[in-house]
Amino acid sequence: METSTLSTAAPYIIRQEYTAYSEEQHGVWAELVGRAFPELEKHGAREYLDGFSMIGIEQDRLPNLKSISARLEPRTGWNTTPVSGFLPAPAFFEMLAARRFPTTTWLRSRDSLEYTPEPDIFHDVFGHVPMHAHPVFADFLAYYGRVCASVADAAVLEKLGRLFWYTVEFGVIRQGGGIKVYGSGLISSHGECRNVMAGHCAIHDFTLDEVVNTQVKVDELHKLLFAVNSFDQIYEAMHEAERRAACGGL
Ligand SMILES: [Fe+2]
Repeated sequence: METSTLSTAAPYIIRQEYTAYSEEQHGVWAELVGRAFPELEKHGAREYLDGFSMIGIEQDRLPNLKSISARLEPRTGWNTTPVSGFLPAPAFFEMLAARRFPTTTWLRSRDSLEYTPEPDIFHDVFGHVPMHAHPVFADFLAYYGRVCASVADAAVLEKLGRLFWYTVEFGVIRQGGGIKVYGSGLISSHGECRNVMAGHCAIHDFTLDEVVNTQVKVDELHKLLFAVNSFDQIYEAMHEAERRAACGGL
């Protein structure tokens, strides 16, 4: 899909200057992946791990977004598109609906390996993009963008934002008799992932009602998350959310 198909988001799209990354930055990437991946081999959802190897993320070099997209697009139609930073909601939704994931190109520095206030390429590519190789998740995410792009009511958008938060950012799934992580905020944060795996976070069965009525807190580790049994559940929840939003009942 070409940039010209995007109107609201077009000003935010940039080029990834891949050759401008320094050896120090590749080294920080390698350290981040080297710390996180052994944990994820144990605690990551199967679909995340499948996507990770499918899109060809390298452990010791920063990802080239063009190469990632070249592997991803034939599978689910998703493209990993470089953007200048945080996008206003309408531009963000427009990109999701067009299967173009807004992806930052900057990388945190060595002295903030654990946390960055804004998403960086580690959060976006290592955390998010592998799931875009899963067909049902991929369809869900585009569907989410399409629905949100058509909603004007701020209260409804806030509730849909919680659906995004508790799935795309902090989702967990029941697999093989245990809890596995698939949300990017869990995958790209050691502390958040450990918090869940150590049992310090209650896990409820995913229901649309509870998810859209559970406030998001960004200043502390999660005390409650929601587990699906399959990704069909979040697609179906989106269907229900769209139906309710249309009649004002979300
Ligand atoms: Fe994210």
